[in-house]
Amino acid sequence: MPSTIGQEDRPTADHTPWVEAIDLCRHYRRGPQIVRAVDAVSFGFGRGEFLAVVGASGSGKSTVLNLLAGLDRPTAGRIEIDGVALGTLSRRELASYRAHRVGIVFQSFNLIAHYSALENVETALFFNDVPRAQRRVRAMAMLERLGLADRVHHRPGDLSGGEQQRVAMARALVKQPDILLADEPTGNLDHDNTAQIAELLTALNRDGLTIVMVTHNLDMARRCAHRIIGMEYGHLVAPGGAKPTEAAS
Ligand SMILES: Nc1ncnc2c1ncn2[C@@H]1O[C@H](COP(=O)(O)OP(=O)(O)OP(=O)(O)O)[C@@H](O)[C@H]1O
Ligand SMILES: [Mg+2]
Repeated sequence: MPSTIGQEDRPTADHTPWVEAIDLCRHYRRGPQIVRAVDAVSFGFGRGEFLAVVGASGSGKSTVLNLLAGLDRPTAGRIEIDGVALGTLSRRELASYRAHRVGIVFQSFNLIAHYSALENVETALFFNDVPRAQRRVRAMAMLERLGLADRVHHRPGDLSGGEQQRVAMARALVKQPDILLADEPTGNLDHDNTAQIAELLTALNRDGLTIVMVTHNLDMARRCAHRIIGMEYGHLVAPGGAKPTEAAS
């Protein structure tokens, strides 16, 4: 089992495993070489928990997140959510899992450049059977909640890094997912924006949202998360053993 760090000042959560990764592997073939991006990794977390995944660049963090998101399939091992193995879901069921249950904030935002902030957030509801008018209302409300009421008609290129990060966050949250997967949500942000995002994530978790956050920032992980797992070369290590490559900002 991975080492964990308890956070006394964090709200309690149900630690009974709700999501379990069991002997998870994702190997890539690169010419004659096998890249073991994730290698026999096992961990679990409960509903309502805030899990942080820390580790140096290339250690396999995004790969784990993509597997949890159902965007990628393991080469061996499995992920179970609520006792159901993701690998046993049909393509349709997996699409429904992604559309309804998981909110993803990508490391590079993945915002659509020619859509406004509002349209970008609305896209998250395209596959959720939400009528068009309601999509707009919900997207607007989420952008307002994230302090972007006066930026809704701006395109990503006209927004600051922190604002783009919040649009990406709004897009992940607008569908009211069971679990938020956030890949380096403060990776490109300055101190103030990092503090704002940390506060937001903590508040969302306090309201019951299960969160998995990938970060280089061990200080932020310690502040926000109930539990921290470290990764190094595709393996789990004690979080202190992971070597953050970025100064905590
Ligand atoms: N599609 C791919 N084909 C081959 N190798 C890959 C592929 N995707 C990732 N890798 C390799 O897998 C390893 C883990 O990559 P991953 O993106 O998960 O790292 P990371 O911990 O998220 O790094 P960073 O902190 O830089 O985002 C790296 O060595 C990477 O080069
Ligand atoms: Mg990554």
